[in-house]
Order: sequence, then structure tokens, then C-alpha cells
Amino acid sequence: MPRTREDIVAEYTAADEAPTPHQRAKWGSATGMYNRFRLALELIDWRSVRRWCDVGCGEGAFFAMAAGRGLRFDALVGVDVTAVALQRARARSYGSPARFDLAAIEHWHTDVLFDALTLVGVLQQSSAQPAVILTAAALCLRPGGQLFLTTKNLGWAAFANGTLEPDPSHSWFNAEDIVQAASASGVDVEGCGGYLPRTGQRVAVHESHTLFLHGVRR
Ligand SMILES: C[S@@+](CC[C@H](N)C(=O)[O-])C[C@H]1O[C@@H](n2cnc3c(N)ncnc32)[C@H](O)[C@@H]1O
Repeated sequence: MPRTREDIVAEYTAADEAPTPHQRAKWGSATGMYNRFRLALELIDWRSVRRWCDVGCGEGAFFAMAAGRGLRFDALVGVDVTAVALQRARARSYGSPARFDLAAIEHWHTDVLFDALTLVGVLQQSSAQPAVILTAAALCLRPGGQLFLTTKNLGWAAFANGTLEPDPSHSWFNAEDIVQAASASGVDVEGCGGYLPRTGQRVAVHESHTLFLHGVRR
């Protein structure tokens, strides 16, 4: 049964008791979480990014990692549906002005457009369909602004050959559907593929349970 927003907020609120950032974000490992951020740091051209919105920002771990790499911005905006995660995010410093809004991206509005918008691990943990989320996300980007996402890949060979079953605690997607939804929302897809979060390797889509997409708003 599809999860409601209330279910998702309850899960992440309960996870806030956990001792480490990756457990609070419900990732399998710290390496997997930080490697997903590393991939975004690699693929996005940060030279043109002054305003960055991280959707499903949790406790701000991605902003903190970028700050640790010396990246500075005119504005960082985090959006998330889980209040306790945002409390943690607001308590950190990022070397750049940062604001955190309690909202679902599909109901959020911004007057000022962003140069980059990231969605790390959000589509699979959301009550809204990817097309709805990506349409809302694309509307927050200026023309030429960059979109990056990672999500769960239903096209993994281990599912096709029957070795494993998709974990029902996430939603799973085919890469073609995510590419199609991004493209329909006004994003030109520059790259989409499989990603091995534990080792940080980019691979063919069928070789991993995780897929990434990088694109540019038309
Ligand atoms: C797997 S966690 C990832 C958190 C963070 N991006 C990271 O990688 O550490 C997914 C996050 O998405 C948030 N979320 C789920 N649906 C959302 C939505 N529609 N809009 C904004 N945030 C959402 C959850 O509250 C949760 O914090």
C-alpha cells in the first residue's frame, strides 16, 4: 500500500532517535550516504551555482559536506517534511546563509529561482509520484539551473533474474520513467545511470539498485 506523508514523517521522526546522521536519514551506511553526495558534487558544475535548494534535506548533511569542501553560496535553502530533522539542520553552520522550510516540495512555492536543486534519496521516500515532485522541482530552477537526483532502481538485474525482491519499505522506479518525468518537467537530461553507493562507482543502470540523474532546466 502506498505510504502517506504522515507515515513518512512518522518514520523519519522515529529515526531521529538514532545516534548517527546516516541512520537518522535511514541510509544503510555512512559511506553510501556520503558517496551519493560526492557524486552530486562531482556532476554539478558548481561554478554557476549561487543559490542551491536541497529538497528532502534532512538534517543538512549534504550542505555541511559541501561547506567542508569549501563551497560557499549566496543562499542555501533546505526543504523537508520532517520537523525534527530540520531542527537539527538549523542548528548547524554552513559558511553560507541558510534557511530551512518545513514543506513537501509538491506544495512549496519559491519566488526566487535556484541555480541547482538536489533530491538525494527523496523520490523513494515520498508519498507523491516522481512526475509530481519533478514538476515542482523544475519550477524552482532558473533556465540553465541544474537538477541532480538519486533514487531506487527497479531495473536492477538482481530483480529481473529473481535473485532478490525490491524492499517494500521504499518505492522503486525504472530509469526510463524517471528520465521521461524529468524531461516532461522541462529538464534536459545530461546523464542517468546506475551507481554503487558503497564503492562510489558509476555503472550501467541494470548493475545497481541505485540510479542517478543529472540534468539542466530548459
Ligand atoms: C532518505 S532521506 C534523505 C535525506 C537527505 N537527502 C540525505 O541524503 O541524507 C529522505 C528525506 O526526504 C524527506 N521527504 C520525503 N518526501 C518529501 C517531500 N515530498 N518533500 C520534501 N521532503 C520530503 C524525508 O522527510 C527525509 O528527510
